[in-house]
Amino acid sequence: MQTIFSGIQPSGSLTLGNYLGALKHFVDLQEDHNCYFCIVDEHAITVPQDRLKLRENIRSLAALHLAVGIDPNKSTIFIQSEVSAHTQLGWIMQTISYIGELERMTQFKDKSSGKSAVSSALLTYPPLMASDILLYNTDIVPVGDDQKQHLELTRNLAQRFNQKYNDIFTIPEIRIPKVGARIMSLQEPTKKMSKSDENQKASIFILDDPKKIEKKIKSAVTDSEGIVKFDKENKPGVSNLLTIHASCTGESIEALERKFANTGYGVFKQATADAVIALLEPIQNRYHELIQSSELDEILDHGAEKAAFTANKTLAKAKKAMGLGRVKKKR
Ligand code: TYM
Repeated sequence: MQTIFSGIQPSGSLTLGNYLGALKHFVDLQEDHNCYFCIVDEHAITVPQDRLKLRENIRSLAALHLAVGIDPNKSTIFIQSEVSAHTQLGWIMQTISYIGELERMTQFKDKSSGKSAVSSALLTYPPLMASDILLYNTDIVPVGDDQKQHLELTRNLAQRFNQKYNDIFTIPEIRIPKVGARIMSLQEPTKKMSKSDENQKASIFILDDPKKIEKKIKSAVTDSEGIVKFDKENKPGVSNLLTIHASCTGESIEALERKFANTGYGVFKQATADAVIALLEPIQNRYHELIQSSELDEILDHGAEKAAFTANKTLAKAKKAMGLGRVKKKR
């Protein structure tokens, strides 16, 4: 059975982009793969976080994994900082990463540009991400479009390590969904929807109530043409809403274009809002039951234990291949 690994940062409230680009696909994959889903809190601290808010986000993100349908009997769900092998291999992977290639990462450039105090961890984020993936002999990494560059680097680092030391790591493949790989901001549809967008109207959060979702979609930026047609270049706002609608209902974009050919944007936006609400409401109901339960803690304890078992084995192999530590003498 092939192994899947993916991670999500608890760096804010989860957006519809995170769900449609990543989380939604995890649920299907767990049926016939060995899956690890990780709440990557050590990645979140590469930019300043409020301590209490971070704690809340970690728990909330774990509960959301379960609420969307990830089954702890089929998949391993755990928190990155509870499995110390991640940062240990992260250090090792830094030793084979070049500063130049890390500086070229667009996420680093975006998050550091214009800032005076940039943590060195923001630069060394990708070797830690590579470690997350490589510790589990991962075959496939399901992510949104924005993680392509990090995945390419992960593959390069794995190959570099294998060539330099020993054939330890599996070279992972990226898996990006056909529709929904890059959900855009509702206010600036040429920019991706992001947890950390300061404009609250730009993102739909998974836990937004129906009224808020409706309001945000109704005020989404479109154009003055009044024609519901997919054209990313010239109609980025309408194209984004079509993508959201199609991802939520499973209908094709072409079918939606036909359905709303003569309706104008008002009817189309209302139907899109209804589709998002119908998708999110049951998730929200399950979430509110789970967030208070101690069952969540048991699942995460068990997940960390299971993850550590595999991760420590890979870490030991990598350390040995590099000559770290010692070989004990026989008595
Ligand atoms: P993060 O936390 O920013 O996002 C989590 C997942 O959501 C996807 N995503 C989107 N998909 C579609 N449209 C969007 N607007 C959108 N925004 C985000 C992301 O592609 C991702 O799949 N570096 C990663 C976290 C990470 C990781 C890993 C992922 C750390 N270690 C190992 C995979 C494997 C990140 O910042 O994701």
